[in-house]
Amino acid sequence: MRRIEDVHVVAVGSTNFDLVVKAERLPKEGESMLATNLKFFPGGKGANQAVGIARLGARTTFIGSVGRDMIGDFLVRGLETNGIDVTYVRRDADRSTGCACIMLFPNGNNTIVVDPSANFALSRADLEKAEKAIVAADALCTVLEIPMDVVEAALHIARKAGKLTVLDAGPPRHCPPEILKLADVVSPNETELEHLTGEKVSGRVSAQEAATRLLDLGVKTVVLKLGSDGAMLVTRDGAEHFPACKIEAVDPTAAGDAFTAALTVQLAAGAPIEEAIRYANFAGALAVTKLGAQPSLPTCAEVEEFAARDASPSPQK
Ligand code: RIB
Repeated sequence: MRRIEDVHVVAVGSTNFDLVVKAERLPKEGESMLATNLKFFPGGKGANQAVGIARLGARTTFIGSVGRDMIGDFLVRGLETNGIDVTYVRRDADRSTGCACIMLFPNGNNTIVVDPSANFALSRADLEKAEKAIVAADALCTVLEIPMDVVEAALHIARKAGKLTVLDAGPPRHCPPEILKLADVVSPNETELEHLTGEKVSGRVSAQEAATRLLDLGVKTVVLKLGSDGAMLVTRDGAEHFPACKIEAVDPTAAGDAFTAALTVQLAAGAPIEEAIRYANFAGALAVTKLGAQPSLPTCAEVEEFAARDASPSPQK
């Protein structure tokens, strides 16, 4: 396996400003409801993954789009502070920076409503401009919070150059099989898997069945994020479940992004997929122990320290 500091990953995706409140429940339609604990955090699935990758020690380039506004300045500065190359972040003159409204509930779950706004100004032409960076990297990861043709262009450029490609299938959207097949690894959570396959998913058995539908569409490797039930690897060789780590849950936001970041870094460094998933499980769990998206993403030292004292059960075939 290579040293993580020698690995270079390009993350292509969204950048959002997250407005987070604690609420007792979802409001009913037409209802005004009080919430508490308003906080602002840098977020967006793509930017979260870029920050996650950088904190784990890999060289990171981010390709995305923000507005020419104060929030965009703030978010890009945050990426730079994490040591991320932002040369290919578009500053769009016509659209505001993307924003996510996040509600955290007493049972530990959340709901997220996103206006991608400037994220949807990212174009194939932006990706073509960044081709040199993609070709120079070891791996590319991307998400569905940007236009679908940009997802396709990103995966296509990386695939053509023989790079590892990882598709985090969030947020829940349909994605054509021709695009899914451009990813070496497709990683959805249960809701995202439902959107990809059109099948109802609830629990491990139905998740494995739906993941098998993705294999039927030509995807080679599916890594399912099962939240508090851990993760599952599904390939033509069968399925393997990786139990969740025991943690004190604070906020699940960006846990999936921490997972994808860690998975991508480990695979790019040459780790076997089972080892990469175990490591990603630790990173995802740690992200749940802190409030906010980017503030919760763990460093390499934090993941290693957590892994050293973890007593979670071994994977089950
Ligand atoms: O995955 C979590 C992220 O989803 C949040 O940071 C929010 O911005 C949305 O993109």
